[in-house]
Amino acid sequence: MPARQSSATVIVAIDGPGASGKSSTARALAKLLDFLYVDTGAMYRSLAWYCLVNAVDVNNPRSVGAACKRWRTSLAAVDGQVQLLVGGKFPGDAIRTPAVTEAASKVAVVPAVRQWMKLKQRECRTFGNIVMEGRDIGTNVFPETDFKFFLDASPEERAKRRAAQGVQENLPERDHRDSQRRAAPLMIPLGAARIDNSGKTVAETAQEIIAIVEQRMRLHSGRAHGS
Ligand code: DC
Repeated sequence: MPARQSSATVIVAIDGPGASGKSSTARALAKLLDFLYVDTGAMYRSLAWYCLVNAVDVNNPRSVGAACKRWRTSLAAVDGQVQLLVGGKFPGDAIRTPAVTEAASKVAVVPAVRQWMKLKQRECRTFGNIVMEGRDIGTNVFPETDFKFFLDASPEERAKRRAAQGVQENLPERDHRDSQRRAAPLMIPLGAARIDNSGKTVAETAQEIIAIVEQRMRLHSGRAHGS
């Protein structure tokens, strides 16, 4: 059921805290809709990885901002995803280490980085319809889209999911940093549908989102035809 709008590119924005099921839901949703999937967290992680590999101090916003100006990147659509390549390659699993996770939430607070990311992330729409997941997609990157979702789950459920992934992470601390930073903090975007997916499967959550996307599209085309 590819839910396409006849002319404009469709952007589905999925925001939410860590372990809220964003990634698996956004991936499933992109497949079902036949849209491209964009993981913006991977972009912040790639910058953090680049900083660690090049001995850039991630605690120094100036150094991180300068690194973000000089790293050589490009966007590419690969296997249904738009990825940020660094020096022509996607860093892959190297961006999933605990050190990179920690560093990513530090580089993500730097305003110059967020500005750079916003432009790069907006550029992704040149590839076609997308499902983009992150922390500020509906609030900051694509505030104009009508298809905004905020996923959440109970703290217990989120902790369980991380443990099942074998990932040790201080979720409350990361939530605090992500929601309290001055530049584009994590919050529920205006007009977003908030979905608590505790106890729901990825498929159930994806279907719930598709139903809302379709409903909003019908409203859209009704408006476009003046009804
Ligand atoms: O979703 P993730 O764990 O891969 O995100 C990595 C870090 O990047 C995390 O600290 C939150 C931050 N991030 C962000 O600030 N804005 C986004 N749009 C995506 C991720």
